Amino acid sequence: MSHTDTNRSTFAVTTPLYYVNDLPHIGSAYTTMAADAVARFERLRGKSVLLITGTDEHGQKIQRTAQKYGLKPQEHCDKVAAGFDALWQKLNIDYDRFSRTTSTRHEAIVKEFWQRVWQKGDIYLSQQQGWYCVSCEEFKEERELLKDKRCPIHSNVEVEWRDEQNYFFRLSKYQSQLEALYQERPDFIQPESRRNEVLSFVSQGLQDFSVSRVNLDWGFRVPTDANHTIYVWFDALLGYVTALLDPDSEPTLENALKKWWPINLHLIGKDILRFHAVYWPAMLTSAGLPVTEQVFGHGFLTKDGQKMGKSLGNTLDPVDLVNRYGADAIRYYFLKEIEFGRDGDFSETRFIDIVNADLANDLGNLLNRTLKMALKYCDGRVPNLNGDDILADNPLKKIGRELSDRVPQSYEKLSFSEACRELFILVRASNKFIDEQAPWSLYKQGNLTAVEQVLYSVLESVRLSAYLLSPIIPNISTDIYQQLGFSIDFNDQNLIRNSVNYSTQVVWGSLPANQKLGEAKPVFSRLEQS
Ligand code: MSP
Repeated sequence: MSHTDTNRSTFAVTTPLYYVNDLPHIGSAYTTMAADAVARFERLRGKSVLLITGTDEHGQKIQRTAQKYGLKPQEHCDKVAAGFDALWQKLNIDYDRFSRTTSTRHEAIVKEFWQRVWQKGDIYLSQQQGWYCVSCEEFKEERELLKDKRCPIHSNVEVEWRDEQNYFFRLSKYQSQLEALYQERPDFIQPESRRNEVLSFVSQGLQDFSVSRVNLDWGFRVPTDANHTIYVWFDALLGYVTALLDPDSEPTLENALKKWWPINLHLIGKDILRFHAVYWPAMLTSAGLPVTEQVFGHGFLTKDGQKMGKSLGNTLDPVDLVNRYGADAIRYYFLKEIEFGRDGDFSETRFIDIVNADLANDLGNLLNRTLKMALKYCDGRVPNLNGDDILADNPLKKIGRELSDRVPQSYEKLSFSEACRELFILVRASNKFIDEQAPWSLYKQGNLTAVEQVLYSVLESVRLSAYLLSPIIPNISTDIYQQLGFSIDFNDQNLIRNSVNYSTQVVWGSLPANQKLGEAKPVFSRLEQS
């Protein structure tokens, strides 16, 4: 199930390269938030990480959109790509590379790759006839279409009939190699339901697919025939490879593949599974390259049961959401509330209820009231204890010690909601423990030893929760850590790499005895229903 090959000290993860037909919506933000959480988790445990995102800027869809706005395609792309970047800043996405498919470096990589596949004899000229969905940039089988020849994913879009000469990639030749790949590496496609979809698709027999277009200027010229441009998907998938180039190195495949290849994980939505799990491994095999390690296809964010999307125009504006509610609340809701892999609906009422209950009440109040007691009863310091001094029957110690393995395992299988659920069991148990133990009464009775046992175990449980939630809510975790007296900023990659020792921090009981605590301030203010 795991996306990590534990023997490698590097970890490269990608989001899709987003189409720039419009500004990002919450669906694009969803994949990116998940990728950022995985990247932060792997950085936390000491890996050298490359988080790749970017934009997919060629093809008919983009050309038409630019025309609609009366802009040159490149001008349009520049504008929208900047919009993606601005959203990633707002959402606190700590990406390492932003790959744009219109860059000249990318052109060099695509052309070199084309040549390899061409020389292998896997590209040939033939006639393409079929129904094309410009929004998907994909040919559809007649049997897949809704009535009135509409695309099943973009039900407001009519597919267009095409009958033209295209170059084709010999996908059919790779049928048995792909089947062997899926058998030998059962983890290659996750989750299981997506794997089954792919197996069933492939078992019906693979057909060659067209990799060039005529009558379309907005793309790279086919190096072996200037009358054609390269199909946008052939070009886009290679954007992942271009992203691996160091900024100052020559754009060659050899340079790009040196350090980070094969990429560990492609995070994508289920609509683009075939491209990543069938076409892409076949293309790589044809070019003589190792296949990427894992493809995870998550579900859709829906509104009234329909996929939210730019093409359908039923989206939520993520910029507006972040402006109103802040990055951590949004990140938390989507990663905790929607089982990664399944579809999920966004409801503003539910969103507000959940973040108020979990972040403001359960976690925020817990820290706040415990800190205040520590200020009063322990002179503003962590009690003079460590985890081993806490009695074995302490319920928080018991739960906390199990989480050091369990939560990392949840992250490894990309089950963010499970990670949150596990951690909030500890948080809720801590609240219950304080209520039951009533340190204020223990203090009055003069039982300072018991007070210290309670406060240490609660503060430590908050610390461990903040640590393991930091990939999802880095700002709140940083505030919690600072109030606990650490000078750790979970948004500072260098600091995390150099000074945070994962194997210590991940264990319940590592809060340093006597550490001077910071000032108690709310880490998350309750949101109001609008
Ligand atoms: N450009 C291609 C990807 C090329 S990767 C080499 C593309 N772009 S996209 O902008 O249309 O979609 C990007 C991602 O956003 C896809 O993974 C898609 O599944 C995801 N989402 C788009 N709408 C979505 C929802 N409503 N919900 C969740 N994710 C969705 O496809």
